[in-house]
Amino acid sequence: MEIINNAAEMHAWSKNRQKEGLIVGFVPTMGALHKGHIELVNHSVKENDVTVCSIFVNPVQFNNPDDLEKYPRTFDQDVAMLRDAACDLVFYPPVKEMYPEPVTRQYDFGILDKVMEGRYRPGHFNGVAIVVKKLFDIVVPNRAYFGEKDFQQLAIIRALAKQETLDVEIVSCPIVREPDGLAMSTRNVRLSKVQRVHASLIYNTLLFAKKMYPHTQPDELKKEVEQRINNNPYMQLEYFEISDTETLEPIGQVKPPKPVIACIAVYMGEVRLIDNMILNL
Ligand code: PAF
Repeated sequence: MEIINNAAEMHAWSKNRQKEGLIVGFVPTMGALHKGHIELVNHSVKENDVTVCSIFVNPVQFNNPDDLEKYPRTFDQDVAMLRDAACDLVFYPPVKEMYPEPVTRQYDFGILDKVMEGRYRPGHFNGVAIVVKKLFDIVVPNRAYFGEKDFQQLAIIRALAKQETLDVEIVSCPIVREPDGLAMSTRNVRLSKVQRVHASLIYNTLLFAKKMYPHTQPDELKKEVEQRINNNPYMQLEYFEISDTETLEPIGQVKPPKPVIACIAVYMGEVRLIDNMILNL
């Protein structure tokens, strides 16, 4: 497995593979890899001739400087996991390589980046769009893989690909869960032992919401979820929203005859966890 730090070298590597007729799959990450990331790599390895994984902790998508500082960096372990997963190349650029100039670009995604994560993490999705566009320009992948845990991010990236007419297929992969249902996330390692035991309540609450949705008014369901989460002494609900899976618009009181998704963000101490579940399929 090769490791490349330089953007021009990375670009040339992909272009050369494509000249040979090979299909390049790409898994962008911020490192601190877990089984969820490796599942994305597994999908890419299966579906493409070569797989590139990037590791870049993107400073411009952190609206909270503390979060950026505390973001785990586990490069050696990440490389070992990627080698075991048969990844072909790791793109590991320094910040200067990605941002030689200060970033000023402002994307407009309409409502997609105003609700839920966008509301509570202003500027986050603009930072994600900036880095994903740059990574796509450098890696020029044929396919790129993203996890459904970050459902809103996926919607933003699809919108970005459309807006910029990017010639890349965006592939989404299902959430990977721990045996007790907790969605795998880099942030899980920051939970204390006792918080970790309680954390499965998030998944169980989504299952509860799915069960209740057909015969409960959305507002009533939202109240019940809020109570369930906030009654747990280790949790504080940031939001629970039921939204159209395509537009991400909150559904209000009338249940639409379309797929809807429940999205949740919960604080456990300083650790912020998100999860989601389609309610009506
Ligand atoms: O999902 C992530 O890990 C990041 O937001 C991404 C897509 C790698 C961009 O930095």
